[in-house]
Amino acid sequence: MKKKISILDVKKCKETNEKYSMVTGYDYTTATIINESSIHMILVGDSLGMVMMGYESTVPVTMEDMIHHIRAVVKGAPQTLVVGDLPFGSYNVSIKQAVANANRLMKEGGCDCVKLEGGSEMADVIQSIVRAGIPVMGHIGLTPQSISALGGYKVQGKNREAAEKLVSDAKAIEAAGAFMVVVECVPAVVGKLITDSINIPTMGIGAGVDCDCQILILQDMMGMYADLAPKFVKKYANLREVMVEALETFH
Ligand code: KIV
Repeated sequence: MKKKISILDVKKCKETNEKYSMVTGYDYTTATIINESSIHMILVGDSLGMVMMGYESTVPVTMEDMIHHIRAVVKGAPQTLVVGDLPFGSYNVSIKQAVANANRLMKEGGCDCVKLEGGSEMADVIQSIVRAGIPVMGHIGLTPQSISALGGYKVQGKNREAAEKLVSDAKAIEAAGAFMVVVECVPAVVGKLITDSINIPTMGIGAGVDCDCQILILQDMMGMYADLAPKFVKKYANLREVMVEALETFH
């Protein structure tokens, strides 16, 4: 049976050259399947708003939604490191609110650490949550909670100035004490630039092969979610077809 990795293992992975893999997970049964595989980490992402609840974006997701799903995943995946996502509006009011909600995900959800979106503007929030004893994963590039401000699901860091801003965001997140940073939907060259510029590992999603580790949304890589198909996602199975076929056979 696989051994659960620790936050310290992840933090050291640039030195140890370990390539950790992460997928999203939102429910108990799927968590047991991921736990049975060699995948190291599960993100209970606020993407559950779209994938599990059918919303058009992650913005409506609440703390209660997150705690509900994190609990189920933690129960199903005892040998897998579980990351709980702080939803939109749960950490942008004040540092006090951010620390209180990070505490809730840890205490009520039972996850191993939290993730939040944003660059240098979130450094003080990250620092305060880390000071409270909670490991934090950052998230830069395409940050879906800011979809309205970003004007849609678009590749980020496409010009020199934007790429330099992402590098300075990654450095600020590292300086604030985060143990890892998700880099989403940037050109591969920018994913590599960010990865080479910081000492904490990057977790890439549509950010090229040079990120230290890689994450995909499970329902995308399994070919289950049909509403949106990011160009960078490789499909490893076509479970939607398999399930419809099984349902037709039963019918
Ligand atoms: O919520 C989520 O699933 C995420 C991933 C896209 C990294 O933030």
